[in-house]
Formats: sequence, structure tokens, C-alpha cells
Amino acid sequence: MGNSFLVTTAIPEPGLQLLSDAGRVTVLPDPPDYDALAALCASGDFDVVLTQLRDVIDAPLLAGARLRGVSNFAVGYNNIDIEAATRRGIMIGNTPGVLTDATADIAMLLILGTARRVVEADRLVRDGKFLGWEPELLLGRDVSGAVLGLAGFGRIARATARRALGFGMQVLFSPRPPGDRPVSAAELGEFAGNVRQAPWDELVERSDFLSLHVPLSDQTRHLVDADVLERMKPDAILINTARGPIVDETALVDALRSGVIAGAGLDVFEDEPKLAPGLAELPNTVLLPHVGSATVPVRSEMARLSALNAVAIAEGRTPPHAVNYLASA
Ligand code: GLV
Repeated sequence: MGNSFLVTTAIPEPGLQLLSDAGRVTVLPDPPDYDALAALCASGDFDVVLTQLRDVIDAPLLAGARLRGVSNFAVGYNNIDIEAATRRGIMIGNTPGVLTDATADIAMLLILGTARRVVEADRLVRDGKFLGWEPELLLGRDVSGAVLGLAGFGRIARATARRALGFGMQVLFSPRPPGDRPVSAAELGEFAGNVRQAPWDELVERSDFLSLHVPLSDQTRHLVDADVLERMKPDAILINTARGPIVDETALVDALRSGVIAGAGLDVFEDEPKLAPGLAELPNTVLLPHVGSATVPVRSEMARLSALNAVAIAEGRTPPHAVNYLASA
């Protein structure tokens, strides 16, 4: 029972129970700022820290850290410098798989919500402005028949494609924008014949809905910038359930204001929880507070996986979901 875990923000059961069955657990009452977290990681009091996306685990913090590992309560791990952690022999875990469908549901919700102007419609009813059925009240767009362009073709993009095909959309994908790589029919599996691979430029230019499903990296930061927005159709809608900094949000606000594109459905923001100035005032947006994985069962599974990862790392085993594999584990 010598294991010691630091949990930066309380997680749902069964996560905390699994941790306390395996060792001593410290749950911070409030999310730590960078310096506080760095000091805790350097204290030598903890084997593993269970982190949230807002916890920045960068190279300077890792340089001073006395930890066996970091277990991130998320599938994405752009908050952690993986290379620096690997150099320091610090193992990193994440929570893939369990949030795929929930996040694809949110992508579909944003597609439907922007197409059918759900936020404007809801506001109109609540404001007492619904005066009865009208032939031209809040006319939106058809989703069926529209072209959905998927930037990325990993688990969440595929789950989104499955839903979009059910809604009668035409699905194009670009597996690794802005670069390319051929995807074989075998890799396409159930999607062969139903979706078509397109170069990034074509995806940008042909999509009625352009939905982002790439990890945040140096290659994908500002993948959607002013130039890309300019090349999209004027009636196109941008959907982002991946990471905010993939989009230049200031350029997006300009594009939405000036009609360069027609709308945006966003679950993530460049500098969240802050929004780019002007974004919240735009009627042609649906804005959600990063809730892609926010269902009771999914968050509970994420808690379980992140705790299993943490316990395995503390015990010197390879975690079920290791981001980096270390010879020493
Ligand atoms: C959420 O954004 C995650 O990466 O799990």
C-alpha cells in the first residue's frame, strides 16, 4: 500500500475507489495552477498524478518532476509533452475508445444544430416570440444530401461518418490533413464504397460541413486559418469537436461576421474557457462547453480507465492504455 496518487480534480466513481483500493489518494479541492502543480509533482510525495486537460505538463515541469507517471483523464494528451516525459522515464496513460460514440454524437448534434438553427429557435421560443407556425420561420439547411468533409479518419471521425451516412449525407475524408496518406479498401472496412478519400484542398472546397477530427499537434495548429476559411463555400459550416487551436478562432469570427462561411458548431475553443472576442455574439454559431464525452456512463468509464492506468504505473506495470512505452516498465 505504498502507492500514492495525486488527483488534480475529483473524478467520478469508480475511479477514486480503484485508486484508494491501491494506495493513498490526495484529491485537490480546486484545480491547481501551473506552479502549484509543478511543486506537487516535484515533491516526491506522489507516484502518479491523475490530470485533466487543463493541467499543463510541459518539459520544464517534467524536468523537476519526481513521478512514475501521469494518467490523463482524456483521450487527447496535447497538454502533456510526451517526448519530454519519455526522456525522463515518466509513463503517460490516456482513455481511448470509451468516448468515441459520445463525441461523434456531439459532432452530429452540432451538424444538425447549426443546419437547423437550434440555438436561434430555442431563444425565439424562450423570448416569447413564437407567434405560431409560419411558412418562412427560421428556415435552415438540409443535412441529407449535403457533403460532410471529415478532417482526419480515426475512431471519432469514423463514428461520425457512420451517423452521417444514416442521415443521408455524402461523406468525404482526408485522413491526415494538411498532408495525405493513402487509405486502402481493407482499412476502410465497413466504409468501403460509402465514403471517399479526398485531398485536403478538395475537402475544404467541397464540404457543406467540414468537421475536424485530428489531434492537436504542430502540424494541425491553425489547420483552419483565414486562407482555408476563404476557400470554403460561402454556405459551409465548420464543426469542431477536436481541439480549439486547430482553428484560428479570430479568423473564424471574421469569416462568420463577413459571410465568408455560413456558420460554426464548436465544442472546443482556442483558449478555452475563453472565447475569441465577438464569437458569443454571432447568431450563426452553436457553442458548447467541451462536452463531447460528457455522459454519465462515458465519464465513469474514463474514470475507471484513468485509475487503472494510474494503478498500473504506480505498480511498475505497463498501463492498459499507455501513450508512451518505456523499456523500464
Ligand atoms: C476530451 O477532449 C478528450 O480528449 O478526452
